[in-house]
Amino acid sequence: MVKPLIAANWKMYKTIGEAVSFAREMVGQAGSMDDREIVLAPSFASLSAVAEACRGSTIRVAAQNMHWEERGACTGEVSPLMLLDAGCAFVIIGHSERRRLFGERDKGINLKIQAALKHRLNPIFCLGESLEERESGRTFDVVEKQLERGLNDISSHDIRAVTVAYEPVWAIGTGKTATPAQAGEVHAFIRKWLAGRYGESAASSVRIIYGGSVNEKNVEELMATPGIQGALVGGASLEVRSFLGIVRFGNNG
Ligand code: 13P
Repeated sequence: MVKPLIAANWKMYKTIGEAVSFAREMVGQAGSMDDREIVLAPSFASLSAVAEACRGSTIRVAAQNMHWEERGACTGEVSPLMLLDAGCAFVIIGHSERRRLFGERDKGINLKIQAALKHRLNPIFCLGESLEERESGRTFDVVEKQLERGLNDISSHDIRAVTVAYEPVWAIGTGKTATPAQAGEVHAFIRKWLAGRYGESAASSVRIIYGGSVNEKNVEELMATPGIQGALVGGASLEVRSFLGIVRFGNNG
């Protein structure tokens, strides 16, 4: 059984001070939970301070992006070595905002996943369809292409370290969550694709999480859906109270 993973994607929010005080509070409230993995993804600027605040707890730190090269003349970029040095254990790769606002393509996403695995950073590989793609019946085609291209050349050994985050673009920041049925069927599709590519055993150790308007209210229902093994949370991860409500799914009653 893989442990569920609940990750806070803070996007371009929180100063270093705000990020550290949030992390300290989380460590106090949930820093010894070990039946689930809790991950905080602050901006690059806050990574090492947040990692320091989480040291000695079970809470792990993720970057929101990275470059695939170890070093080079790449102004504005951050390398896997730098993320490790800052104390990251995870890195979010291919978020739809990176794809849409910064022109990220499957090829570069694949290079980043390969680089993360090489450096033992656990990639959280984001994929998902737009509203138009869903409405024109292309959800599974789109997800399949993203899987094929994003995971090109990833071995059945390395795939075990990958978390796939299904984030339908139409559900991100919109307050429109995919219904458990909608999310569940895409999760099942991803699992089946992974089993076809890597075999049942490797596929069953890949965590598949859901992102898109997850909050304290809908988390129980989502986490009770077969095939959903965690959540990538944007808006509702910005306040300690609401994020704790999500992190404590299953114990809220
Ligand atoms: P929201 O939870 O704000 O919809 O954002 C989801 C997301 O993009 C997490 O990566």
